[in-house]
Amino acid sequence: MISSRTLPSSPSKERILFILGVSTFVIFLTNLAVIAGTDYRDGIELLTIPQSLKHFGQHSKLTIHEDKDGLSYSGERAEGHPISQLVEKAAAEFKQYQDSRSKTFVEAIGKYRKKYGRHPPPGFDKWYRFARERNVYNIDDFDQIWDDLRPFWSIPPLELRKLVKGMLKEDSEKSGLAGITIEYGNIEVTGGNWRTDEFVKMLKVFVKELPNMQIAMNKLDQPRVIVEWERLQEHLEIEEKSRNIDKPATNGFSRNRELDECMSLPTAGWFDASGNPYMGLASKACPPDSYARNNMTMDPAAAEAKYKFPNSGGLISNFNISSDLCTVGPAIQDLHGMLLAPATIVATKKLVPVFSECKVNVNNDILFPANMYYSDDPRYTYNSESDIPWDDKRAIAFWRGITSGGHQTLDTWRRLHRHRFVQLANSTDLDNTKTRLTLPTLNSTVVPPAYAETKNWDPSLFSEKYTDVGFHELAWCIPDSKCGWLRSFLKEVNATALTDQFINKYLPDIDGHSFSGRWHSWLRSRSLGIKATIFREWHDSRLFAWQHFVPMDNRFDDFYSIITYFTGLGSREGGDGVYIPAHDSTGKRLAGQGREWAAKVLRKEDIEVYMFRLMLEYARLLDDRREMIGYGVNGKRVKEEEEKAKWVWPH
Ligand SMILES: *[C@@H]1O[C@H](CO)[C@@H](O)[C@H](O)[C@H]1NC(C)=O
Ligand SMILES: *[C@@H]1O[C@H](CO)[C@@H](O)[C@H](O)[C@H]1NC(C)=O
Ligand SMILES: *[C@@H]1O[C@H](CO)[C@@H](O)[C@H](O)[C@H]1NC(C)=O
Ligand SMILES: *[C@@H]1O[C@H](CO)[C@@H](O)[C@H](O)[C@H]1NC(C)=O
Ligand SMILES: *[C@@H]1O[C@H](CO)[C@@H](O)[C@H](O)[C@H]1NC(C)=O
Repeated sequence: MISSRTLPSSPSKERILFILGVSTFVIFLTNLAVIAGTDYRDGIELLTIPQSLKHFGQHSKLTIHEDKDGLSYSGERAEGHPISQLVEKAAAEFKQYQDSRSKTFVEAIGKYRKKYGRHPPPGFDKWYRFARERNVYNIDDFDQIWDDLRPFWSIPPLELRKLVKGMLKEDSEKSGLAGITIEYGNIEVTGGNWRTDEFVKMLKVFVKELPNMQIAMNKLDQPRVIVEWERLQEHLEIEEKSRNIDKPATNGFSRNRELDECMSLPTAGWFDASGNPYMGLASKACPPDSYARNNMTMDPAAAEAKYKFPNSGGLISNFNISSDLCTVGPAIQDLHGMLLAPATIVATKKLVPVFSECKVNVNNDILFPANMYYSDDPRYTYNSESDIPWDDKRAIAFWRGITSGGHQTLDTWRRLHRHRFVQLANSTDLDNTKTRLTLPTLNSTVVPPAYAETKNWDPSLFSEKYTDVGFHELAWCIPDSKCGWLRSFLKEVNATALTDQFINKYLPDIDGHSFSGRWHSWLRSRSLGIKATIFREWHDSRLFAWQHFVPMDNRFDDFYSIITYFTGLGSREGGDGVYIPAHDSTGKRLAGQGREWAAKVLRKEDIEVYMFRLMLEYARLLDDRREMIGYGVNGKRVKEEEEKAKWVWPH
């Protein structure tokens, strides 16, 4: 996330620039000129037509066939495209998700006990009311909290409290942590910054229901905790053995034993690994037989089985695995700034409770909803007034950002993810570059046409017309923080305020130093979000790839397959051999589904509901009597209240 960068050199340049960046109108005019000045039809004849791919046989020309009814395939009817199939599959999975949610309190506590083998935490009845009052959509979907906190059940409560206190005793500037102390409903902050401001705002909503406790909050962009795999299995085993739903439990927190001054406090053992390849650390947190542990890149067939749609230009079929570093880490270790040369890594291999806004799949940080999603910062917050209907938007994939993501040197910059993306969409840079594309096959017996990938397509003309991507600031290079040397390869383009970006249909979202804080805005808008990321966030399980957004590979090699699917490419009559029918209405539908869903499950209320449950679970972990407390009864009282009040679930 760009604004939250923590390099000491130029802390708020980005922020200022965003506020100042308002020259959209000029950019808009420029783009009109670009479009008008380029006759794409003429240009398309110059496209390289693949001749030698096995799927294309001996043919050199694509013919589009008529179906049984004598109708030719065009537009939305060409459902042979893998994206159409992925969209269909996602819709079915999403429906299942919708149909399986609990509809009563009794059902919800039953599901909780069955899934986790424990009673819900004390105050769960209050939390349930709180969530229903806020019109929560899915009362069950909080597995992330459980996954994050599970290992900590292996550490006794007193030890956990000592760990937190020990971390907060260290100099906040060095540790990169802020302390949040809750005492009798009051919140006190030590070593805070803008991140703690929002955190405290979220807590205030329900703090009166929380017992006294201390929280260590990560102030850095990057995640902090990375426990080696074998060690983590030991923690998880202890947790599993401690599960119990047969013992009675008290629905309330106890007063914990005070930590007295002379207790010796443990340290977290932070070490600085900034600038080092991250997979060196990450691979040790992966299972022994994983690709990462063996530093082995997956072969394409294995990739297809795991997370790719077969023969389709690398389209993502399993978004979860596409960011699982144990699986894809070796393949992308040189293609993402955080993995190649991260700007700030202050990490520990010891299991310590640290709250972070994002992590990669092998981290043990405890996720909380990012501050940017809760704040009203205009650089990140969606405002419907500046959005326009889909049909009025430009068919352009638009991205602006700053050169964040990792240490930029003459040696590394071409491999940093943002820089790669900017180059991939730069038509000048792409001259004579071939990339992969999903095209219909030329097999005349297959109707509708099957699609396969070609690795031999020149995207430069297409990119000139359909992409507008660039850095609005080149900064933080090494050496020369003003990036003099980088300017011979890349140039700055005008900045565009967040709200002015919605004149475009397609909005790729690319990681910065960590996750991208614009993501909720992209989802809430009438534009279509296209997401590539290695980071995990609190909301992941409620967002469905190909239903609410379009997933993109971290290598970006599917970028043109994605965009051409929506915009279409070539024409049936063109005679140039390349024709992908447009799927504009699918794009419009996905954008609308994402927008509608985000308005239901990514609201501030949803963040409060998540935080409240997270805090109850965390407070129980720290409680000296944690094995004896919890919501252990059958829920009859809440059930009666629920029936009487006739609460309804959102549709
Ligand atoms: C960028 O903005 C400046 C100042 O508003 C303007 O003079 C310039 O023409 C713009 N450049 C482009 C490429 O839009
Ligand atoms: C993995 O292998 C690559 C290529 O041999 C090497 O550069 C890299 O340092 C290795 N990474 C790890 C984590 O061993
Ligand atoms: C994501 O994949 C991992 C295995 O790589 C699996 O353990 C986990 O349950 C998956 N999560 C979701 C939400 O599908
Ligand atoms: C064309 O498709 C048919 C049916 O799937 C298949 O039997 C045939 O082998 C394919 N021909 C070529 C040239 O790929
Ligand atoms: C696009 O690439 C060309 C050639 O490498 C380069 O001169 C230009 O600055 C790049 N444009 C942008 C916007 O980075």
